[in-house]
This record gives sequence, structure tokens and C-alpha cells, in this order.
Amino acid sequence: MCGIFGYINYLVERDRKFILKTLIDGLRRLEYRGYDSAGLAIDGDREGEVFVYKSVGKVALLERAITSHIDLDLSRSFSVHAGMAHTRWATHGPPSDRNCHPHRSDPKCEFLVVHNGIITNYRELKAVLERKGYMFESDTDTEAIAKLAKYIFDTQRLAGQISFSSLVKAVIKELEGAFAIIVKSTHYPGEVVAARRGSPLLVGVKSEQKLKVDFVDVEFSSEADKAEDAAAALLTPADPNHPLGAQVQRSQSRAFLSEDGVPHQIEFFVASDPSAVVEHTKRVLYLEDDDIAHIHDGELHIHRLRREDGMSSVRAIQTLELEITNIMKGNFAHFMQKEIFEQPESIVNTMRGRVNFDTRKVTLGGLNAYIKTIRRCRRMVFVACGTSYHAGVATRAIFEELTEIPVSVEIASDFLDRRCPIFRDDVCVFISQSGETVDTMLALRYCLERGALCVGITNTVGSTISRETHCGVHINAGPEIGVASTKAYTSQFLALVMMALQLSEDSLSKRERRHRIIDEMHSLPRYLKEVLSLDAHLQELAKTVLYRERSLLIMGRGWQNATCLEGALKIKEITYMHTEGILAGELKHGPLALVDDGMPIILIMTRNSLYPKVQSALAQVTARKGQPIIICSKDDTTVPAQYRTIRVPHTVDCLEGILTIVPLQLLAYHIAVVQGKDVDNPRNLAKSVTVE
Ligand code: F6R
Repeated sequence: MCGIFGYINYLVERDRKFILKTLIDGLRRLEYRGYDSAGLAIDGDREGEVFVYKSVGKVALLERAITSHIDLDLSRSFSVHAGMAHTRWATHGPPSDRNCHPHRSDPKCEFLVVHNGIITNYRELKAVLERKGYMFESDTDTEAIAKLAKYIFDTQRLAGQISFSSLVKAVIKELEGAFAIIVKSTHYPGEVVAARRGSPLLVGVKSEQKLKVDFVDVEFSSEADKAEDAAAALLTPADPNHPLGAQVQRSQSRAFLSEDGVPHQIEFFVASDPSAVVEHTKRVLYLEDDDIAHIHDGELHIHRLRREDGMSSVRAIQTLELEITNIMKGNFAHFMQKEIFEQPESIVNTMRGRVNFDTRKVTLGGLNAYIKTIRRCRRMVFVACGTSYHAGVATRAIFEELTEIPVSVEIASDFLDRRCPIFRDDVCVFISQSGETVDTMLALRYCLERGALCVGITNTVGSTISRETHCGVHINAGPEIGVASTKAYTSQFLALVMMALQLSEDSLSKRERRHRIIDEMHSLPRYLKEVLSLDAHLQELAKTVLYRERSLLIMGRGWQNATCLEGALKIKEITYMHTEGILAGELKHGPLALVDDGMPIILIMTRNSLYPKVQSALAQVTARKGQPIIICSKDDTTVPAQYRTIRVPHTVDCLEGILTIVPLQLLAYHIAVVQGKDVDNPRNLAKSVTVE
């Protein structure tokens, strides 16, 4: 959902070539968040000059557009420079040059903004600004931010000085909706201000000198800021209750990162997520909602729009555990392929330090303090979107069986649309790879307001969902870059099974079942390797049978219901082939009408208690001349020889889905490759959906 990136150097001599490369590399790492257009802004050759480059399409095209400017002096050196960049997933206005970021306040680019999120009141802001003579050039919501900054600055210039952070503070007070922004201005050379509300943003810090502190104080307001008052009065003179009209507090400015008297040689990286900064530094500070980061003169200051009870007054500079190799493709052709093949390892990482296979005990440290409360709850509600929702569907049955707590699984947007009743004795579990999906995040806040205990299951340490939940589990699958989620699904699945195991540890009647599951968890990496060894067979099926099809049905029931839904999602999102996941028990209630000798079908028929029922589904399909490909257990000798089969190792029923999804991930991948689709960046999609 758009990636934003900023790079600011202070007393570290950098030439323009280096600066451009840093910005472009930053965008490349963020490209999975949006890839329909890209743009950047760097300082010009003269004071007050700024160069802006934009291009429709992927970051590589932007890079090509910039390098074709032969008059751009790449050797020009800067000891202080502020650059910023953006890769877009369109929300307002189609991908086009005029809608590319950065957006400007005016032709001189006095203020430039890159933005991730949606400003919901931009029409109102635009109408006010148009009445004041501003001419809008794009269809975006973002442009209103740049124009508003100039408007407040111009009115302010009459009234006296205003710091860049106070100016941006005045701007974001007017914004409704979600945003992470970086603002650059010719009036504040060498400075940027970054702010967030609802969209992720972090600041990476790199310095050869040791930082004196590993945190930054939040500068809460202390005295009236006349400048902002004056701006407010001009914008809404008649309304004393207008947020800009209210008395605003001026922040105290203090330097936190410089050694006493010795200016730091320092570089800052502002980014939507850590993968864009880890190649430069592992020291990062995550911004909270309504934080305003002002970077200038080698210092980082965090201001707040407002003080809230219980809000921490420091922001820690944390050390990332991410390695650069984790976000490289290595020998694989695509991130998705790499991530599929990482699964034997990523599920080990989900279990690492948490499962004792000798004592058959599972301990999720992040839940320890709340286990008793969770056990006592009236019901559990899993809330998520897309693949993460399917992980909830996949594990609901084992959760209910082991814990005897009723579980409902909710799609976050629908849960919010219905304003689902939530009570203090509910436990709500928010499942999200990115930890930033806005529907899931809004559902979390809805449940927090209603007093429910909120648990996060995320892959992203420091993400909003992991920070705002009471407790939770990090699935530790490692960074997932491919837009189609693969290894996060199997790790979410496993983490939820582990949670059910921990919650049911006291139950004697479940002991045998629990032990069988834990024993099989031990074998999962080996089983997964075995499934991955089917790769050539699956590639062949994709190349010879499936790639030409326009439609595909994936059927199964019980433990395989979620596999059908998730497999269908994988195939449709990266091959654009219409694919439907069908609960085999529902066949006769409608979907059977689709079946004939030309309809491609995959049937999942693993050896568990529902096997006889799936055999009837097979009979119903073959009676209509359907010729399904069957995913079955390796040792199953009863599947008639006439069918093509994909044979997976046999395991305990509740873990089968971790194995059966893998052939479908691989089929999706190979079909997309044969069709020449952009596997890692499917059309119209982006990872980390930070808009509603
Ligand atoms: C599909 C996919 C999406 C995400 C969904 C939720 O392959 O990746 O359906 O699962 O957008 O994202 P997270 O898990 O980050 O909340």
C-alpha cells in the first residue's frame, strides 16, 4: 500500500550518485507494497532548488528515467542533503505521471510530500484551498497535504517564524484518515519531517560514532505556540473550537543524538518498514501514531501531536534482528519461490525455544502472563484478512477440540461492518503477517475499546498490531516479501496450534491427543521437505495440464476446508485464473452444477476421519464426468489408478493443512511462471494493506 523512504545525511560527504542509489535501493525493498508508479525528490544544484523525478511503472523505470537525464551532475557532493522517495499502489487516481508522488505545493516545490495511506477529508481540504486560489494538479488525496503546508507557511511568514515540525504539526491536525508522510521543503534545507497515524513508519540511524543514548525523548508540548494559532485563525477564523484554532503547545527542542559539543556525522533513513533500512543500519526507532519526527542538523526529535495518558515518553532505538540475506532472493527466481522453499526452516523458527519435544510441552512466552485469563474466557474470536483469515479457519477446529472454548473466525472488514458484539470476557485474536493491515488494526481498536483481552499473532516485530495487543505470539517466519503469502500462512497455522496446545496443557483427557500432535510437529520439517521434492512433478502438471485453463475448483472438507480456500486464493492472486475453494459437503447444494468433463478440479482427499465422506464427493464428481487431480496421503492405495495424484506424507489430521497447502502454492507459482505473470508483484495487489 505504497512504500515511502527518506534519506538524510549530515556531515557525511555523499555524492548525488550515492544519494540516488540509496533512494532507489530503498524503493526496491519497498516495492512489494506498491508498484504501479514511483518518484523521488533530491536537492538541486542551487540553493532553494529541488529536482523531482517520476515514472509510471516499477522502480526500475524510474531509475532508467533518472539516468537518462544527461545534464544531472551525479558527482556533485553534499555534506548535508535530504532526499525522499515513493512507490505507489494507487488509491486515488489511476497510475499516471500526474498522480505519482512526491506531490508539490506549487511549481517551485516549496513543499513536497510522499504519503502512504488515505486522507479521508481531502475533498474538504481541497475545496477550502481551491477557494484560496490553490490549483490542484493531480487526482490524489496527498496533494492537499503539500498545498496545506504551503498555505500555513505563507500565512505564518507574515506572523513570524515557524519551525518545520510545528508547521507539519499544524498540517496533520487537519488530516483525517491514515497516513505516513515525509515532508521536504526548500524553506528548510537539509531537514525532513516525518509523521504517522495508522500507517507504519520508522527511522533508521547510522553513525560511526557511538550514540550516547539508545532512546529518544518525546518532546511533549509545554507552552503556547502563537505561530500555529495564527495559522489556525486564518484557516478557520470563525470557529474557535476548530483544532487549529485551539491553543497549541510549542515543543521544547533538545538534541538527543549528538555527543556533547561534538556534532555527529550521521545518516538517517525513514521507511515504511525495516527491510528498506537493514542494509544500512540495524538501529531503528519505530514511530507511534501522531508522532512527528523532525530530522535536522544531525539530530532526531520526536514531537507529539497530543499527550495521552499512559503514553511512553521515550522511543527506544532498537536493534533489528533482520539480516540483509533474509530479504535477498539468493538463487531463487522469485521471492515467492524462495519463501515456499523456506518453509521447512520457517516452521522450525516458529517452534524454536517454545516446544520441548521430550516433555511434550509448549510454552509461548508472550502469552504466559495471560494464559489463565484466556482459559477462563467465554469465547474466542479470531479476526484477520485474506490468508491470515484462512489460518484462523484452518485451526479453529483443533482450538475448539483442545480448549473447549467456542471460537468464531471473522473477516476483519465484515466484523467491523457488522459492529459485532464484543464483551469484556471475550478473547480476541488478531492474526496478521504484516501487523499493519488496517482492517485488522481497526478491529483490534474496536475490541480494545470494549474491554476484551486482545492477542496478536504477527510476523512483524514492532508492528502496530504487535504493539497494541495485550499479549501475543511472533510467528518468526522471517521477512515475507512476495505479495502472495506462503510461509507466513504455515507459521501462523502452527503458532495457533501451539497456542491451543498450551491452553489445553492442564486437560488430562486431551493428553494423548496433545502428545500425538507434538510428536508430529517434530516431523513437520521433514514432511515439508518431502512435499517440496514434488516440485518437478507439480511444474509438469502446471505446464501440461493447468496453465491454459480459465477456471479451477479446489474441493475438500473438514481439516482441508481452509486449504481449499487458501489454495484458491494463491492461484487466483498470482495467475488471475478464476479459482474457487469449495467445501465438498456443500457440493450437492449448488457447486456440483459447475462440474462436467471440461471443468478442472483438484480434490484433497487425505486419510483422516472424513475420508469416506470425501470419497462420496469423488463419486459425485466422477458421476458427472469430472476428472479431478487428487491430493492424497502418500501411502493411500485405495485411490483409483485412473487419477493423477499428488502424494503427501501422512500426519495427524490437524496438521495436514500445513502439508497440503504446499503443492497448491507450488502449482500457483508454476502456472504463473509459465503464463509469464509477475509472480512477486501481481497486478492490482500490494502487500500490507494499510487502507480500508
Ligand atoms: C494473500 C495475502 C493477503 C494477506 C492479507 C492480510 O496472499 O497475502 O490476503 O493475507 O492482506 O495481510 P496481513 O496478514 O499482513 O494482515
